[in-house]
Amino acid sequence: MNEPNANRETDVRRTESAAGVCAIARAVTVGLVLCAGAAEPVTVLIDGAAPRVAVSPDLYGIFFEEINHAGEGGLYAEMVLNRDFEITSLPKGASWAGNLLRTKADWQERKWFGNELWGWKLLAEGGAKGAIKLVDDAPLNDVNPHSMRVTVRDASGRVGVVNDGFWGMNVQKGKWYDLSFFARTTNDTPFEVTAALESASGRECYGRATVPGVAGDWRQYRCSLLAGESDANARLSLTVTRVGALQLDVVSLFPRDTFKGRPNGLRPDLAQALADLKPAFVRFPGGAIVGGMNLDNRVQWKRSVGPIERRCGTVNLWGYWTSNGLGFHEYLQLCEDLGAAALWVCNPGFSDNYRHAEYAPPEKVGEFVQEALDALEYALGPTNSTWGAQRAANGHPEPFPLRYIEIGNEASTAVYRTNYLAFHEAIHSRYPALTIISNQRLRNAPVAMVDDHKYGDAASFFAAFDKYDAADRNGPKVYVGEYGCNRGVGQGNLLAALAEAAYLLGLERNSEVVRMASYAPLFFHVNDVAWPVNMIGFDSSRVAPRSSYYVQRMLAQNRPDEILQTTVEPVVAAKDAEVFAVAGLERKTGDVLVRVVNRSAHARAIRIKLQGVAPVRPSASVTTLWSADPTRENTVDEPDAVLPVCSEFGGAGSDFTYPVQPCSFTILRLRKAHHGIAE
Ligand code: AHR
Repeated sequence: MNEPNANRETDVRRTESAAGVCAIARAVTVGLVLCAGAAEPVTVLIDGAAPRVAVSPDLYGIFFEEINHAGEGGLYAEMVLNRDFEITSLPKGASWAGNLLRTKADWQERKWFGNELWGWKLLAEGGAKGAIKLVDDAPLNDVNPHSMRVTVRDASGRVGVVNDGFWGMNVQKGKWYDLSFFARTTNDTPFEVTAALESASGRECYGRATVPGVAGDWRQYRCSLLAGESDANARLSLTVTRVGALQLDVVSLFPRDTFKGRPNGLRPDLAQALADLKPAFVRFPGGAIVGGMNLDNRVQWKRSVGPIERRCGTVNLWGYWTSNGLGFHEYLQLCEDLGAAALWVCNPGFSDNYRHAEYAPPEKVGEFVQEALDALEYALGPTNSTWGAQRAANGHPEPFPLRYIEIGNEASTAVYRTNYLAFHEAIHSRYPALTIISNQRLRNAPVAMVDDHKYGDAASFFAAFDKYDAADRNGPKVYVGEYGCNRGVGQGNLLAALAEAAYLLGLERNSEVVRMASYAPLFFHVNDVAWPVNMIGFDSSRVAPRSSYYVQRMLAQNRPDEILQTTVEPVVAAKDAEVFAVAGLERKTGDVLVRVVNRSAHARAIRIKLQGVAPVRPSASVTTLWSADPTRENTVDEPDAVLPVCSEFGGAGSDFTYPVQPCSFTILRLRKAHHGIAE
């Protein structure tokens, strides 16, 4: 983030912000009301007889990175914070400098926990006495060296531990919650452990279950709790009835209701928001975290597969602990569940170059190449291969739909070329069908596709409507792996969404070159926002997609197969234009989709003239995202400040006028007339 990058248009500074969320928007049918205001008349000429551009079927995808608690405390449905008691672990090669983590290359991160048992508290009521301590004796296994010892000295009242989760646990009446934990004791007198879902004060209990016979060496225990009430700010307590000591590790609580019912699964409301985007692909796991603060801190996919107690978590460079419960397998499963192709980003042999990169020595780069090949084998290999067998053992014998691999993220250093060539040669020879994506336009190198990132203010996005018009049609294809209008747009307002709509229409009409695009970042927990503007806000119980989300959802629901030549008159340079329009044809219906952005504060009568296409019916369906105030934002408290609105329009034809709202993105679906006759 701190150095220039050839493929990055602007730099974005990290800022603290708070934002909100809530319900998934629903489109409602209302009559069209045109707001007052005058503006120059505009004509949109659509010529179906002129050469058409085939729209990339993979254009609209999503990009997931563990940032802003997108996964941990977010999409990943685990409810316990610091379940593995490893939150104090440092990446190898890093050390403490006061409250700062410092890498050898002198990158610094703030401390991400308040105390050694972050997330956990002693519970001692009614005269009970006890203590909790982080310990490293008799570890559960080699990747989980720490555990929590609970010592009870007086059990005359309620005594044990509580975990508040990620800013409260969302407990819903009538739903089941599955708890598992590992425990160890040094004597054989069994403990009876009572698990309860309760209010933040502990005064109300919503569900309880008891696990008897907790004694002896490490063993996993399980129970299920049925919630009798709803509370978005609940907590988990584990209490015992006698004095003594026990060690706890990997304490995990999941709602039984996960997306598609997957174990170790995802929060259904957040995953459904993704499904509604109908993404063609999912890029994961980052972003900057692919590189990490140093090489040990890179995303190491092998640490993120298998049973959760064998996964090794890490602090991430966005400032919080990640358990790796949402790992390589779960990402691939998400892709499959969304019907999307997987686009995996591998580490290129060095850590994030905006954070003082640590480079693998040249003779070690082969190990990083092998790490990538092993991942590909895990995703795609036969079940008799080493990693394909692991995939099958983890419950998925069939290959996953992985079609793309990107070598590194925003890697702008000179070393990239050498490493890229080594990765490319090894991957292409074994997996020739995969599309390999480069971070740089490397001359005289096999670059099929390059990842361009674009962040900036609204003006820069509107101006970029024609950015790829002049791009070399014979050069590498383009994947806009990250875009987001994030300057001067609050925490993600309507103006940002309109600017992105114009930009996306510009990408669509350049589909010969631009094959894919994904917004970044995807999610943010309103209580920990590391990046200024993001697409979908949430807290423990609410989801609030920003207007940017709705632009993408509108486009996803109205995807043409071919772009029709569209001219907006009077012709104005993109940077000065107030109206942007691109029309396309949906082959299966013959419908013409006219997408119009009106960035001005004036309503406009847009004359639409069609030629070279079959006649259309007078009745058109219309979806409009608009507000008279372009600074409006959806938040968790006001999730429906700006929502798409559906309506019917009765005056369509080959030459008609449609009144667009101020500050609006409108999609007109002009229905093909039956038998070529406009009824
Ligand atoms: O999207 C947030 C960050 O922006 C990504 O991690 C990185 O690739 C870019 O700098």
